[in-house]
Amino acid sequence: MKVVISVGGSVLVPTVRAERVRQYAAVIDGLRNDGHEVGVVVGGGPTAREYIDVGRELGADEISLDQLGIAVTRLNARLLIAAVDGATPPTPLEDHESAYESFQRGEIPIMGGTAAGHTTDAVATALAEYIDADLLIYATSVPGVFDADPKQDADATKYDSLSPDSLLDVVSSIEMAAGSNAPVDLLATKLLQRSGLRAVVLDGNDPEQLRAAVSGTHDGTDIIPDHD
Ligand code: UTP
Repeated sequence: MKVVISVGGSVLVPTVRAERVRQYAAVIDGLRNDGHEVGVVVGGGPTAREYIDVGRELGADEISLDQLGIAVTRLNARLLIAAVDGATPPTPLEDHESAYESFQRGEIPIMGGTAAGHTTDAVATALAEYIDADLLIYATSVPGVFDADPKQDADATKYDSLSPDSLLDVVSSIEMAAGSNAPVDLLATKLLQRSGLRAVVLDGNDPEQLRAAVSGTHDGTDIIPDHD
């Protein structure tokens, strides 16, 4: 199976520690050893947020703040590159063409962010579309897609599965609520809508969930295209 993993910085490096990065590397190597082809996109997490907040306080413009965020995603990606045993390019790949070529060579392409104006969810979705992945996994800090932000609303209910159109409704309404976090960003959701990819949103704090997703038994939310 061709699998792309979007791993949030908030789950790979909630604090900068080796253990979680090692666990992710073990899952990625395990999937490779089981015969799957894997590509990975790493997020910036709390470190990116800290740099962006301080940059904003110092008067940086929004594009420069995005560039700060991208720099941190690539720092985090370097930690994962250090931990993975399988063949990876030595530095985080900075565009989709390079990642595609690396994937075609049988490596594990590892990317951070690419360009200002979106998040690594969108980068991962575009990579999945490019390599025609069988499965795209969003490893996030929430256990799936809820009908409201579970960090703010105790009554939020998790969906077991939903279509990209329904995901767009959920994400748009959450994004409109100030200070809340959407499980998948808006551009990624739009890309999912056009691509017909199968995706899963799951709790990345439990890296074993990724293996479960590949075998179809995870506890997260399936995003299933309408024609399936
Ligand atoms: P993340 O992809 O990490 O954001 O990018 P996130 O999803 O909010 O956080 P985690 O990692 O899942 O916890 C961090 C920031 O970097 C910039 C944006 O400013 C984004 O908010 N960024 C990232 C880009 O501008 N372009 C990219 O391709 C990636």
